[in-house]
Amino acid sequence: MKLHGTMQINDRGHLEIGGCDAVDLIAAFGSPLMVIDEALLRENCRRYRKAFAHNDSAAVFYASKALLTTAVARIIDDEGLGLDVVSGGELTIALAAGFPPEKILLHGNNKSPAELKFALNCGVGRIVVDNPYELALLEEISTMKGCRPQVLLRLAPGVDAHSHSYITTGKNDSKFGFNIAGGDALNAVKSVLNAPQLELKGVHCHIGSQIHELDAFRCAAQVMMDFLQEARKETGWIAEELDMGGGLGVYYTSEDTPPSIEEYAKALQEAVEQKCQEHNYPKPRIFVEPGRSIISPAGTTLYTLGSSKEIPGVRKYVAVDGGMTDNLRPALYQAEYEGMIANKAREQAVEKVAVTGRCCESGDMLIWDLAVPHIEPGDLLAVSCTGAYTYSMSSNYNALPRPAIVLVADGRAEVIVEREKWGDLVRLHRIPDHLL
Ligand SMILES: Cc1ncc(COP(=O)(O)O)c(C=O)c1O
Repeated sequence: MKLHGTMQINDRGHLEIGGCDAVDLIAAFGSPLMVIDEALLRENCRRYRKAFAHNDSAAVFYASKALLTTAVARIIDDEGLGLDVVSGGELTIALAAGFPPEKILLHGNNKSPAELKFALNCGVGRIVVDNPYELALLEEISTMKGCRPQVLLRLAPGVDAHSHSYITTGKNDSKFGFNIAGGDALNAVKSVLNAPQLELKGVHCHIGSQIHELDAFRCAAQVMMDFLQEARKETGWIAEELDMGGGLGVYYTSEDTPPSIEEYAKALQEAVEQKCQEHNYPKPRIFVEPGRSIISPAGTTLYTLGSSKEIPGVRKYVAVDGGMTDNLRPALYQAEYEGMIANKAREQAVEKVAVTGRCCESGDMLIWDLAVPHIEPGDLLAVSCTGAYTYSMSSNYNALPRPAIVLVADGRAEVIVEREKWGDLVRLHRIPDHLL
């Protein structure tokens, strides 16, 4: 397993993160456990801020959907980033952390009237309007409230970041945003310009996640700038802001060779600048919304090994005390991870095992081929780069309580999300009178 951030192997031959021994962490906080390396999280925020430093401080909006806790929100604010939220729930967590609402963008392809009212009441900085239904709804609510929210329009640029050609496909098959091809995006610009209750600040796109090809981002930036030029010709409107979403890929295994944050920032900025020159268009402020590339490498999940099953000539399954409930990504889209036996980090590998979760699903696998030393029940497995889209996608399937999350730095470990207990699982349940 590649060591990330403050990870190291200590004198006891144990994995250590933020100066905390993995074995001690499990003894103190229980298993399974998500560990967030505060120094690495902060470093990634700083690299983003620096790479987009020509903009003002809130031009980088951390995508909450990757992982949001009140403590994470505090760190994001502390590091001078803004926040992208996608629901009333994420907004509630951000506000509970004291995050400044004016540095928050609200996303979502089906925001409810209640969520829009909540966002307007607390004064979020931008609402990213996704579709005509929402546009009409927002106009109505803003008129009723007598406010004038600043909006970005989410556009679908038709750039497929996950095909090998990653070029404009012309055809858009995405549930998000106004399609540029076919004219919906231009009509949306005209509608907002004709809506006195809304202030159109710019446009937004997000072409996908875990993207390794800089050309996909360049291409999207070019399409967006060409659109802005067309919109200017048609309406005279000049965008102040261009939000290019998130999507920068990260290292999960040695198969992944993502560009750096700095290379990504340079590619985006150069593509926008080139188009601004070509069209003689005033350069908009560039926004980005990184999630995975900030939090993924900062997260490690620690599990305890339990049962195993060897099928001669086939494979050996080894089960851990978590699985698809705390990390759905392998089951959802065959995501791959690296891992190590955290209490035997210096021992030689002697076999390969398939690490399975404890849920009643055959697809509940974490790592198919993990080289391990002699293992036994009670050993600890560390799975790296689990900060993003794991806890935030977690569930209580099989009525398993969610793990705790601890923040580690300089030998300190503090709980930032408590472990759920069995009792929590019935907190919302009610038995109607006639069943009592
Ligand atoms: C609108 C939007 N912005 C930002 C992100 C974050 O993307 P990533 O975590 O890949 O950086 C997402 C992810 O789905 C998204 O939908």
